[in-house]
Amino acid sequence: ISLKEFNTFGISAKAKYFISIANKAELIEALQLPQFPTYFVLGGGSNMLLTRDLEIPVLHINSKRKKVIETLENDVLVEIEAGENWHEFVLWCIENDFGGVENLSLIPGNVGTSPIQNIGAYGVELKDTFVSCTGIDIETQEEKIFTLRDCNFGYRNSIFKNEAKGKYIITSVIFRLTYKNHHLNTSYGAIQQELESNKITNPTIKNVSDAVIAIRERKLPNPKEIGNSGSFFKNPVISKSDFEILQKKHSTIPHYVVSDTEIKVPAGWLIEQCGFKGKRFGDAGVHKNQALVLVNYDNATGAEILALAKKIQETVFSTFNIEIEAEVNVI
Ligand code: EPU
Repeated sequence: ISLKEFNTFGISAKAKYFISIANKAELIEALQLPQFPTYFVLGGGSNMLLTRDLEIPVLHINSKRKKVIETLENDVLVEIEAGENWHEFVLWCIENDFGGVENLSLIPGNVGTSPIQNIGAYGVELKDTFVSCTGIDIETQEEKIFTLRDCNFGYRNSIFKNEAKGKYIITSVIFRLTYKNHHLNTSYGAIQQELESNKITNPTIKNVSDAVIAIRERKLPNPKEIGNSGSFFKNPVISKSDFEILQKKHSTIPHYVVSDTEIKVPAGWLIEQCGFKGKRFGDAGVHKNQALVLVNYDNATGAEILALAKKIQETVFSTFNIEIEAEVNVI
């Protein structure tokens, strides 16, 4: 079958075998099929670039359920199945007045893949509400619980991109969310401006979610209209001394202090300075409002997007002497 509908980049790669998984029993059954030694695990398809057809079976994790498993004094614990759409989960939280994920509104993808890269936006990361997740060991089909500590979360990083890479399939995630007393994070400038322009002085989690949705809709292309995978690159972290040299030449360079010795620079800014913002090469392009996002206007192949990404990496390197690394998984 064509995977075009199953990846937000809208790449028309094909899968020879496609198995939809609705629950743990089906997953274990599929993993025990003797004829297939390896699998490709597909969640929301929002963080990958397919550059070829897949000969190995695709397991599409499609299990759904959102459940409150414990009510504490000010918090609730909820367990969400891996196949739930992330943004629908966020909206469910807002409806039920569960706080903590409102800044992560409108992030594409599924709940089951959210821990892999510790999704984050507007000052909040998945790890801030994450309690644990359950994974199935692909080799042994045994269940394993990963606690917050086990996951070793970092900026767009976790154990699932390192030691545990390709070894487990996440089947559900438990979050601890606030109930009644919310701790809003509106520190991000864009959120403050959005709330101010709507004259909201005492925001609710719904107000924050709406603000994030409005900001994202302005800046980021909707994958239903233009294929994309959000930020294609990670923001590079460079040494403070390298940054100071850069800042002498470019006094307006935006940056975030990571530590006493390290500074994070927005890759979107670097790419824009190199002249790529809004450029189109056939059906592959760089989004006009956010240079960090590569887009598929219609029928670009994964190879064409990848070629553009390489060209951007080379130009950023030759201009700034900074290597930018893909955030998206290139298959
Ligand atoms: N900028 C430019 N030109 C651009 C894009 C950005 O100059 O084309 C500048 C902006 O003016 C701003 C700075 O770069 O000063 C940062 O831009 P923005 O706030 O848009 O955030 P970002 O660092 O580019 C990160 C995440 C996004 C997340 C936003 C908001 C990464 C790789 N990306 O982008 O995440 O939504 O912050 O928190 O960390 C994603 O991962 O898919 C994603 C969209």
